[in-house]
Amino acid sequence: MAEQRAADPHSGAYYQKERRKYSAEEEAKLERQHFWRIIDAFRSYRFHVHEQVKRAERQFRSLSQRHQRVLPGVLSNLARVRQCAEHNQEILDAVVHNSLHMFENVEYGEREDPRKARPSTTFDMDKLKSTIKQFVRDWSEAGQAERDSCYKPIIQEIQRLFPSDQYDVSKVSVLIPGAGLGRLAWEIARLGYSCQGNEWSFFMLFSSNFVLNRCEEENSLTLYPWIHQFSNNKKSSDQTRPIRFPDVNPQSLPLNTDFSMVAGDFVEVYSELECWNCVATCFFIDTANNVLEYVDTIWKILKPGGVWINLGPLLYHFENIANELSIELSYEDIRTAMLKYGFIFEVEKESMQTTYTENECSMLRYVYDCVFFVARKPTLHFNGQEEEDLQQNCPPAAKSSRREGSNRLT
Ligand SMILES: C[S@@+](CC[C@H](N)C(=O)[O-])C[C@H]1O[C@@H](n2cnc3c(N)ncnc32)[C@H](O)[C@@H]1O
Repeated sequence: MAEQRAADPHSGAYYQKERRKYSAEEEAKLERQHFWRIIDAFRSYRFHVHEQVKRAERQFRSLSQRHQRVLPGVLSNLARVRQCAEHNQEILDAVVHNSLHMFENVEYGEREDPRKARPSTTFDMDKLKSTIKQFVRDWSEAGQAERDSCYKPIIQEIQRLFPSDQYDVSKVSVLIPGAGLGRLAWEIARLGYSCQGNEWSFFMLFSSNFVLNRCEEENSLTLYPWIHQFSNNKKSSDQTRPIRFPDVNPQSLPLNTDFSMVAGDFVEVYSELECWNCVATCFFIDTANNVLEYVDTIWKILKPGGVWINLGPLLYHFENIANELSIELSYEDIRTAMLKYGFIFEVEKESMQTTYTENECSMLRYVYDCVFFVARKPTLHFNGQEEEDLQQNCPPAAKSSRREGSNRLT
């Protein structure tokens, strides 16, 4: 990645980074390698958890017999964790099985040389464990309260702004960038709106493809999402408690529903101007290297009169990540920039408390004090020159060719 310090010492130290430029062939090769790396992570999950369990067993066995005897249940709980991991692996294998040919327009071929498979990194394993928790948030009864706090306010605004008695809602187009496992997009489509989710991570794409296209029977599948948490358990059984999914049949959308998921980087995929009535972002805008790029894209792709609905914190995903641009703006700064673009704030709440893939039995729980807003792109735009200036002064952020985001809680 090109990375240079500013030439002018008085301008302050900053980094100017350019997008990596690869030939189409190199790009395809990197994408293929990345695809197989994530498949490997899914497949090596069991091994990774077993190593963790083995370590915990070793530690316990290193205690004196006297100490071991006062805790007769520890080893059997660890054995249970191992069993749960076996079960999770079966689900992950099913996800992988259904992912190998999931893209309509891309095939990733066979792995060049299976012996080249390297052990998965802790980083990829952490992403996989977060993805398992995302099943709770999006597709289990246990996630209902969290969905009510995060998705419901967005859905209610869409219904208020585009009520079905005044609009043909099938013609109201809603885009959900960073759609995760797709539940928010699916719920909006279920209400009859034309809804598209966009997602970039293969972890999420493989998993959402599995739930949306391969699961039918309600609560027929089981995951053990909390077995990776060895600290902050009140009861040992909290670690091994199951969740069932999907809490609804994802295939129950009416036949003529316009619902789709599109893979790729939001900024790169959505370049067509003025075609969306609504863009809804939930726990998304802080995934940007430069959040102004998202503001810019949303401004361009919204129809005049269209709305941007946002709910989320500003836990910048690239903060402190080596070799990555990370512009960490306050909400105040983002708001100022949005006003300059011409957005008009219609609803604004600066304190909406939500959780994200929360383990409700844990002794450590995070609350996000989120910002929620509805901002409209006006029908008649006031100042063309200003917009042009904004666009010229907003270069694209630097990017690695493929990334799975950082190792953040969200
Ligand atoms: C914190 S998660 C939120 C997921 C979902 N909206 C929710 O509320 O559960 C952010 C999601 O955005 C995705 N993402 C990050 N950068 C993206 C990009 N440039 N284009 C599309 N998706 C992206 C991540 O892979 C991740 O699934």
